[in-house]
Amino acid sequence: MARVLLLGSTGFVGRAVAHKILDTGHQLRVLVRDPLKAAAFKVRGAQVVVGDALNPQSVTQAAQGVEHIISLVAVRRNRPQSYLAVNVDGPRILGQAAMAAGVRSVVLVSAVGAKLDPHLKYFTSRWMGEQELAKTGVTGTILRFTLVIGEDGGIVKDFERALVGPFAIIAGSGQAKMQPILREDAARCVVEAIGKPELLGKIVELGGPEVVTWETVFDWFLQARRVKKPKLKLPAPLLIPAAMAMEAVSTNPPITPDEVNMSQADNLAAGIDSVSSQFGWRPTAPGAWATTHWAKPVR
Ligand SMILES: NC(=O)c1ccc[n+]([C@@H]2O[C@H](COP(=O)([O-])OP(=O)(O)OC[C@H]3O[C@@H](n4cnc5c(N)ncnc54)[C@H](OP(=O)(O)O)[C@@H]3O)[C@@H](O)[C@H]2O)c1
Repeated sequence: MARVLLLGSTGFVGRAVAHKILDTGHQLRVLVRDPLKAAAFKVRGAQVVVGDALNPQSVTQAAQGVEHIISLVAVRRNRPQSYLAVNVDGPRILGQAAMAAGVRSVVLVSAVGAKLDPHLKYFTSRWMGEQELAKTGVTGTILRFTLVIGEDGGIVKDFERALVGPFAIIAGSGQAKMQPILREDAARCVVEAIGKPELLGKIVELGGPEVVTWETVFDWFLQARRVKKPKLKLPAPLLIPAAMAMEAVSTNPPITPDEVNMSQADNLAAGIDSVSSQFGWRPTAPGAWATTHWAKPVR
């Protein structure tokens, strides 16, 4: 069994990864900003170290004595923390700390869509972060996921926000294609990737076993919650100026221009069998799961 340091354990995907690491029998150490958020792992035997994943000294110290590091640290929006600080500098700090501590490998969780594109700031920042990690010379694997879905959080929060007055709002046509993967399955991929020799040095794009449109995933949510509101599609060219205005006046706007742009592009993994071809098992089909597991808001 391996000694693993996990960064980003307190997030939507990270929580599931932490529990999966413990289920597997690995020794888990987490680096967290708020130790109370790690209470559930601590009671299961994880070692909790308090520190910031953007502080090189904290990460280097936390990496002492572990064999592998996994990072799920990222921000989806450019504030309050910036893309540059978290999504770009974060992987560099991770790689340098891993090299200094002599760990065997790292797994960086990134996002399908990561690429250099001035119209897509978030995806550009993820691509830059991947490059920064590679430049450190550390041995590792980058796992890019498509949409990850779970009972709470993630896209469920976006859907709840999209129920505005009498309407269920869709940004753009809703026809962009995606390949949602259950959080449990994504976490299993992350844990199984630890030290897997054939994945070292690779960027692997992973998603679920179905290609569906954004509107279909929204329909699962509406069906699960028994929402009967009519859907209102707001064309992206109209929505972008409104999103710009909201971003200018609010620190937490309902949608940002970058999110409008991202929502219009397909977000697909490397094939419908991306998980089975890399890990040898088939992920759960998300449609039937979502319509039952999204029935009640999780508080
Ligand atoms: N959710 C999806 O649908 C999806 C899809 C594709 C890829 N992914 C990837 O999966 C990864 C995790 O995503 P997520 O949805 O779980 O995000 P999340 O819920 O926002 O979690 C982000 C994590 O990063 C931590 N973090 C942020 N800034 C930090 C800092 N300065 N120091 C230490 N920790 C910091 C957060 O800690 P705090 O609790 O202290 O804030 C949290 O644990 C990301 O790389 C993301 O791109 C997610």
